[in-house]
Amino acid sequence: MDTDRVTLGINVDHVATLRQARGTRYPDPVAAAVLAELGGADQITIHLREDRRHIQERDLRIMRETVQTRVNLEMAATKEMAKIAYEFKPDMVTLVPEKREELTTEGGLDVALSRDTIKEHVRFLQDGDIKVSLFVDPDIDQIRAAHKVNADAVELHTGAYCDARSEPVRKTERARLVDAAKTCSKIGLYVYAGHGLNLNNVAEVAAIREITEFNIGHSIVANAVFVGMTQAVREMKQAILDARR
Ligand code: PXP
Repeated sequence: MDTDRVTLGINVDHVATLRQARGTRYPDPVAAAVLAELGGADQITIHLREDRRHIQERDLRIMRETVQTRVNLEMAATKEMAKIAYEFKPDMVTLVPEKREELTTEGGLDVALSRDTIKEHVRFLQDGDIKVSLFVDPDIDQIRAAHKVNADAVELHTGAYCDARSEPVRKTERARLVDAAKTCSKIGLYVYAGHGLNLNNVAEVAAIREITEFNIGHSIVANAVFVGMTQAVREMKQAILDARR
């Protein structure tokens, strides 16, 4: 695992959120993906939710043809989604838990609890030449379970770290991320991270060298409102690279 290389996936879901709010054709997440790549994105991440609240199948179809880097499709482990993944063949699928009423993905996947079902999904997707990452809390049992179901990678949920309101909690949460990342690296799982990261909190997580990829959406789309997508991506990429030095 080349831990000197760090890549940035840009999640453009919330460009689609703005579009869906009015049922217009704009702003187009496909255009956002092009601009994100110009700013240095190494991957475009989209979450096709069961309720289609933001990203639509149309977005996935067009991005599959236009994205120059890689498409990472976040989806629930359901038969419907597995079929869609097979149809559009993203470079990677990230399996996430999904609850209709949640504002955003609230916790990691409970791989330990649903090992057999997840294992079946992982095998099915990998048979279709799609890499599979599992979005999990920084919890050693979940990481061991991810390894047992033969996932290619895990994405560590950084939400608890980002939401920490006090220094001791923040330290504890960072230590959990470090332990989880080191365990992944030891057992041979690629380790990525994401959720809640912004320009103010990314540095301490980006400094964890075992983490080789970040997936960031909301804060970048929010910053893009003021500085434009390309610049917002450039700023985040620079912050990550600076933390790595
Ligand atoms: N990674 C995963 C698996 C997610 O579900 C999300 C949110 O859609 C993100 C990363 C990005 O989180 P944020 O939008 O808070 O940057």
